[in-house]
Amino acid sequence: MFVCTNERGPDDARGSCSARGSAEVLAALKQKANASGLKRIVRVNKAGCLDQCARGVTVVVYPEGVWYGGVTLADVDELAERHLVGGEPVRRLEIPAHELTGKEAPPGFGQSSLGKPGLGQE
Ligand code: FES
Repeated sequence: MFVCTNERGPDDARGSCSARGSAEVLAALKQKANASGLKRIVRVNKAGCLDQCARGVTVVVYPEGVWYGGVTLADVDELAERHLVGGEPVRRLEIPAHELTGKEAPPGFGQSSLGKPGLGQE
């Protein structure tokens, strides 16, 4: 799981995930993943700009290839419990694949392990 922690100056019109609280989201996701028994199974890491700046804090989960936008601290428990433990994406936060690049995703993109038991359920 990668959380954008990119910073930009206050004069940059694009804003940044850092300015929207990504460091706090990252820390909370790490804590929740560890508390959910996923330490050494799931890594929650910093990422640079993921090119979804206008959406708010951006998070991407691999190998599934599921992208989330506008993530806040209020979403952390649901992301960890539903996606990381339960194996189900949180649809209300998901960025559709075709909106990531403006192109259609190749067949199978974003579906590699969804629908299978979550990491805490295998
Ligand atoms: S600053 Fe986070 S996606 Fe660009």
